[in-house]
Amino acid sequence: MISHDQPVTMSTTDIVALTQQLYGFVPQIERLPGEYDTNVQVQTPAGESCVLKIMHPSRTPEFVEMQIAALNHLAQHAPEVPLQRVIPQISGQSWAEVTVGEHTHIVWMLSYLAGTMFAQANPIDDALAAHVGQLVGRIDAALAGFVHVGAERTLEWDVLQGAWIRDHYAVFADATERSIVTRMTESFVADLAAYGDALPRSVIHGDINDYNMVVGAPGYQSRQVTGILDFGDMMVSATVSDLAIAAAYVMMRHPQPFDALIGMIEQYHAVRPLHPVEMQLLFPMICMRLCISVTVSAIRKQARPDDPYMVVSEAPAWNLLHQCASVHPRLMHYRIRHACGLTPVPAYDHVVTWMQQQATAPILGRELAESERKALDLSVGSTVLGADPRHAAMPLFAKILDEYLDGAIGIGGYLEPRMIYTTDRYAQAGLINEERRTLHLAVDFWGPAGTAVHAVLPGRVHMLEYLPADLDYGYLTVLAHTTDEGVEFYTLYGHLSDESMRTLVLGQEVQAGQRIGSFGVPDVNGKWPTHVHFQIILDLLDMGRDFPGVGYASQAAVWSALSPNPNLLLRMPVDAVPPPQRSLSETLAERRERIGRNLSISYRRPLKIVRGWQQYLYDHTGRAYIDAYNNVAHGGHCHPRVVQAATAQYALLSTNTRYLNDQLQEYARRLSETLPAGLDVCYFVNSASEANELAIRLMKAATGRRDMIVLEAAYHGHTNTLIDISPYKHDGPGGTGAPDWVHTAPIPDDYRGPYKRGDAQAGAKYALQVQEVIECIQAQGRGLGGYIAETLPSVGGQIVLPEGYLRDVYAYVRAAGGVCIADEVQVGFGRIGTHFWAFESQDVVPDIVVMGKPIGNGQPLGAVVTTRAIADAFDNGMEYFATFGGNNVSVAAGLAVLDVLRDEPLQHNALVMGQRLLDGLRAIAPQHAIIGDVRGAGLFLGVELVRDPQTLEPADSEASYVSNRLRDYGILAGTDGPYHNVVKIRPPMPFSAADADYVLAAFARIMHEDYLARP
Ligand SMILES: Cc1ncc(COP(=O)(O)O)c(C=O)c1O
Repeated sequence: MISHDQPVTMSTTDIVALTQQLYGFVPQIERLPGEYDTNVQVQTPAGESCVLKIMHPSRTPEFVEMQIAALNHLAQHAPEVPLQRVIPQISGQSWAEVTVGEHTHIVWMLSYLAGTMFAQANPIDDALAAHVGQLVGRIDAALAGFVHVGAERTLEWDVLQGAWIRDHYAVFADATERSIVTRMTESFVADLAAYGDALPRSVIHGDINDYNMVVGAPGYQSRQVTGILDFGDMMVSATVSDLAIAAAYVMMRHPQPFDALIGMIEQYHAVRPLHPVEMQLLFPMICMRLCISVTVSAIRKQARPDDPYMVVSEAPAWNLLHQCASVHPRLMHYRIRHACGLTPVPAYDHVVTWMQQQATAPILGRELAESERKALDLSVGSTVLGADPRHAAMPLFAKILDEYLDGAIGIGGYLEPRMIYTTDRYAQAGLINEERRTLHLAVDFWGPAGTAVHAVLPGRVHMLEYLPADLDYGYLTVLAHTTDEGVEFYTLYGHLSDESMRTLVLGQEVQAGQRIGSFGVPDVNGKWPTHVHFQIILDLLDMGRDFPGVGYASQAAVWSALSPNPNLLLRMPVDAVPPPQRSLSETLAERRERIGRNLSISYRRPLKIVRGWQQYLYDHTGRAYIDAYNNVAHGGHCHPRVVQAATAQYALLSTNTRYLNDQLQEYARRLSETLPAGLDVCYFVNSASEANELAIRLMKAATGRRDMIVLEAAYHGHTNTLIDISPYKHDGPGGTGAPDWVHTAPIPDDYRGPYKRGDAQAGAKYALQVQEVIECIQAQGRGLGGYIAETLPSVGGQIVLPEGYLRDVYAYVRAAGGVCIADEVQVGFGRIGTHFWAFESQDVVPDIVVMGKPIGNGQPLGAVVTTRAIADAFDNGMEYFATFGGNNVSVAAGLAVLDVLRDEPLQHNALVMGQRLLDGLRAIAPQHAIIGDVRGAGLFLGVELVRDPQTLEPADSEASYVSNRLRDYGILAGTDGPYHNVVKIRPPMPFSAADADYVLAAFARIMHEDYLARP
């Protein structure tokens, strides 16, 4: 018989002939990849696509019948799973033998499932991974009742048969690689011997790899698996092998492989509940499958050392293997149990119940009276430390705690996410915004050095260690305890003095209440303010002294099971510790309940932000996000000078402007000094909306007219009048159009509008359009009150006005008797880099300048600055007063912002970083047809996405997709523009080169994702 690996091809004429003979039609054909067999995509006359399978002559009928039987079985028992269907031949049979030339082939036909190979899909996200899990579960569940003699066979890829690789450890030259494969294989072989008999077995698909899955067209939402192919590797094996194999391939392509695995298991378990032994052996099986894979590759590589493909294909497997090797299998077992709805640590319920029944002693030797203790919130959102990282560094940290605690013992909370763990020990890769370990797995007591520490439970001294690294434990004592059923667990006391080392010995029995040490001074406690960390540990995971006291918040379920609440033993009243954190979903639900729903929430996956520092925002778990969006926190979130000025003023006086106070005039003077001469009368309000409202009143007073010209797609604020002058709102959803006194001029957009960038006259031509509107107003017998525009329209799509535009517009407006209002709310205060005020870049001087957002660095503040003549016209007898406008606190904040802008080179930074971003974005733009335009000035940038570079069809959902994906990468950006297709980048001014490079790298990667790819 012809050998398996000898290729046999067939001519197109023969294929057409045999299709006609067996299926009764003349097909259109296209060859598909296939290792041994010939697979041909054929079109039926009805236009349906099918796959004609012409098997290699070495294939047996049993092999084909097995697949046909399985596919038919699944079509009946799991019709919802996207699988190929068997197409009958005109004879009514599913297959036939055909002899062409000297070879006889089995020929059969399947329906065709369209899609992209999973291996080529980008990105592989959690939802797609979870869908794989679900489909594999459905297939396995349905195959439970399937038997076929063809599946009774042994394949080298069968995970259960993987022990053959033990003979090949030597194939790995690299000692680390060899030891990983050896350790995993030996441990799997032992597990299998011990528990393997309990593994449910059935016929399995056997090879759900990334080339045997197709996924649907990419969309705004996550895509789905649209087909699982190739049942040619079916065999009887452990049922859960299918999940192990599919998981290995999904994990190789997923940026967070273990999270992907957990998502797959949840879905799999929902349709085919896993047996406890399967939960236990699944992770070792995944590792084993990877070990088989790298062994096969290594053996093949030895045979073909020059084939570069060998190295490329094994790289992802090795990458994942290294990651798997760094996780304790029991930890994965616990995570898997949790995914299946079980208590992660099997002994948990027993140990917790046992602990509850024990007599315990107070850790500090006596119960603390209410007056002696204070719940100490050190969470990410705690106000005790604030956002300034220097507050969590010694010695300031100790000083702040001393002042706050005022002699009381501070009690710090269990499962509290904290940002005080600042050294690299708590990070993974050292990226700005990666997940760090933040979740406190203990309760801690903060008080004076030397405070005595007592054993809470009787136990045996299990560990006495000294860990001197910064922010480690210093002196550490671990006691072991054994329950009445013989289950061992531990209590850990960290940050002690050397007393414990001196007075205790390993193996020594200690009684509850026995003094076992005292709070160590910072020099020996890991450089912390003095305290003790008390943690319960159910399984040390063979980590010894490296068992974490702080875990990943994303893995809270498993870590809280490994380290249950210490209050089970401490037994303090609930108010002694800080209240538990509210989860994101609780917060979201309550917000939906209590807050108007059109107060929108950003991102498909909303963020709970509890802290801000410089150009970073932090969510409730302590994950940092690069804020590339928030131009309000101009000098950086929580700028200490602004915070200090505002809080000091708040502690002194905050009242209204009806009394004399020097700060108000000083602030007005300082602000006027930044503006051209003549703009020297200031009004202070509480928001930019209020400022624009006031600007319109000034205009009306000065001109006696109300008619205004506004720009298309403009937004100027949320009040009634401002909605009237904001086409973005009144022409958008829920809007009722412009009132008769509002006249809209085209937006001078030199990308999308009629006059393009590069046309030196574009500014003048767009300005003429304003003149036409003026003429129209006049033709109606109306008079022009004024013209208002943002100097770089933001909501309008991050537009940079063409040169000369405002100069001409202002001339036309003034000639018609109108006033010119510059809305500098988004772009003032140096944001555009070249100038402090954006209107300066157009070489004009407005009559009224409106300020907001950055002016107070987050303190509610707005301002209107105008000429003496306009101010005098407004002073018409009606008193002007705003209760909070110009209040002392806001003025103090505003002054501090001006100080910061004077003393820090933020405007220059905006220029440099803006250029870095523009250059970077423009460098990648030519590779992506969807990037229509990259524009901006300073740190005010827009990337306009279009579906077609000719028609400029706006790619709105794609822009939203990009902003959501940037969020996944830890970058906060937004979308804007009349068509919502402009990705907007507008960060706080301290934005750094590292931030810019990270944003550019993420942007570049996202642009390669399938949903954004354009032919
Ligand atoms: C250009 C412009 N003007 C005015 C406002 C109104 O500001 P506020 O929401 O502070 O009232 C905004 C707000 O986005 C704005 O972008």
